[in-house]
Amino acid sequence: MNKTAIIYSFNTKKTGKVAEKIIEAFNDDQLSSINAEELTEELFTSYNQIIMGVATWFDGELPNHWDEFVPALEDLDLSGKKIALFGLGDQKGYPENFLDGMGIMAQILVGLGATLVGFTSTQGYEFESSRALRGDMFTGLAIDYENQGSLNKERIANWVEQLKREFS
Ligand SMILES: Cc1cc2nc3c(=O)[nH]c(=O)nc-3n(C[C@H](O)[C@H](O)[C@H](O)COP(=O)(O)O)c2cc1C
Repeated sequence: MNKTAIIYSFNTKKTGKVAEKIIEAFNDDQLSSINAEELTEELFTSYNQIIMGVATWFDGELPNHWDEFVPALEDLDLSGKKIALFGLGDQKGYPENFLDGMGIMAQILVGLGATLVGFTSTQGYEFESSRALRGDMFTGLAIDYENQGSLNKERIANWVEQLKREFS
């Protein structure tokens, strides 16, 4: 059976809000919520379908809680795991590093053998560069609370429907 988890920092404001909306849209009591700040390798590898919330902090970097888990993550073999990322960024404030955190995490996960799902179109966003691009797609759901918060609901709903098809 496929075990699915959503992992994000419970101490973040906007990432936490988006995660709650994703959980609501999934409407599935089999989806476990895990605090990224209490994550262990054993817990991470006990799921074969994982949704991860990765904002961008510090001008193009991972948030601290993810950066601290990367050394442990890099010891893992993630082949056979399907992972979907949702990223938060600010395309007007940081147009040269929009969603870089999500792109950095995507690169690490793919290098460890994971299969990434949940890629989305870049249509409707304006920025100069992003490490979260693969071709003309983002490596996950792209949320910009600062400038496009009114689109969150629709973007999340569409993405969850996409994940329900791509997972399982
Ligand atoms: C100091 C600082 C640096 C940031 N750097 C970036 C960045 O490089 N790229 C980006 O897309 N967003 C950047 N952001 C925007 C955040 O990713 C955005 O506000 C996000 O919603 C924060 O989510 P959180 O409250 O869950 O941490 C930055 C925000 C702050 C406060």
